[in-house]
Amino acid sequence: LDTGSVPGNVILIGMMGAGKTTIGKLLASQIGKTFVDTDHEIQERTGVRIPVIFEIEGETGFRKRETEVLREIVQLQNIVLATGGGAILRPENRALLRQHGTVVYLCAPVSELQRRTRLDKNRPLLQTGNLHARLQELYTQRDPIYRQTAHIIIDSGRQGVRVLVQKLIQKLL
Ligand code: S3P
Repeated sequence: LDTGSVPGNVILIGMMGAGKTTIGKLLASQIGKTFVDTDHEIQERTGVRIPVIFEIEGETGFRKRETEVLREIVQLQNIVLATGGGAILRPENRALLRQHGTVVYLCAPVSELQRRTRLDKNRPLLQTGNLHARLQELYTQRDPIYRQTAHIIIDSGRQGVRVLVQKLIQKLL
């Protein structure tokens, strides 16, 4: 398998806990691209963690920063980009992502998302109410948008990270 020949940028979308960061890092190292994470970039620029941005500027303020950072990052070449789960909420971002790379939807069932985000204090949208209900609500809202935005859809709930990355590379070649 020639893993050096995946063309262009690879852009990962999907719910919180879908594995965008974990899979993105492994994928990038295997196909020789640079891993970039929008949330990480936002935190670097502001000097504070995501929950602090939500506290001070609300979700609207965060989405503005997210869009700004996305616009810049997609100009880079040969990257694997892990987006935040809500990056696709703005239609302008959906178009932007599709124009600048192969968009991959990492799809996992709510039960699995819940297992992976259960102890997480760094995701402000999951701090209130019942976690399963909250994830289910976001999933119902977003799953159709992820599907619409993606060029490739891959199940990240039932298979190990290594197997998944190998399958994804084959689809990207
Ligand atoms: C969000 C997902 C988070 C982060 C923010 C909002 C969302 O990123 O951008 O907390 O709306 O789904 P991850 O998907 O990396 O957790």
